[in-house]
Amino acid sequence: MADNYLEKKYEETFGADAKKKVIVKRTNPSLETLLHRNRSHRGFDPCVSVPRSKLEEIISVNSLLPSAGNRQTLRFRPVTGDLAQKVMEQLRFGAALPELHLPLAGEEPKAFIIICSTAPETRFVDMDLGISLQSMGLKAVEMGLNALIVCAFDREKLQKVLDLPYLPLAVLAIGKGTDTIFLKPVRSGESLAYYRRDGVHYVPKIRAEDLMV
Ligand SMILES: Cc1cc2nc3c(=O)[nH]c(=O)nc-3n(C[C@H](O)[C@H](O)[C@H](O)COP(=O)(O)O)c2cc1C
Repeated sequence: MADNYLEKKYEETFGADAKKKVIVKRTNPSLETLLHRNRSHRGFDPCVSVPRSKLEEIISVNSLLPSAGNRQTLRFRPVTGDLAQKVMEQLRFGAALPELHLPLAGEEPKAFIIICSTAPETRFVDMDLGISLQSMGLKAVEMGLNALIVCAFDREKLQKVLDLPYLPLAVLAIGKGTDTIFLKPVRSGESLAYYRRDGVHYVPKIRAEDLMV
């Protein structure tokens, strides 16, 4: 059979234009693909800027989420432009690799979503927070971006820097991640510390069979 036999048959049947339509057709990535891509990058491509509209699109997923007692206490502040650098100064990346001083110079994220709560922090507010952070991370990945969850910062200081009406609980750094990250399956009880070797960031993850109790 000639190499392009099927293409020719397709053109004969549906016309030359139809072929193009078939080539551009894309399927949505599966949840598992999005979860795999949703890694914690600590370096971001300086050539890819994230406008406020994209942060708003990411924040909008929160109107679809479950919430304890449906109280929906979380509020969101998108940050881009000059203020982004001030936010970055407050954050600590990669506490397990202090010698690397992440992010490397020139790879700092330039867009952030600050998450606050209108009510005092409780375990239910924190559950809502986790659902929100992961959902926004997955949305960012679906949009071809990456999100890093950051909780290592002084809440009062960041509240002051941004003149926020509520205490910030977490920050999502958004951009196009540049790290090369591999997941390393490990047994329960082995070291879970992430590490870097030859420019690759390795993240140990406990095998599914060891997660059962
Ligand atoms: C609640 C929470 C807080 C985190 N805070 C930070 C942080 O302050 N700084 C940082 O660099 N990474 C932070 N991370 C990212 C974790 O270090 C990361 O999820 C972990 O190393 C596993 O990597 P992975 O997300 O690629 O699976 C946080 C993650 C979570 C879920």
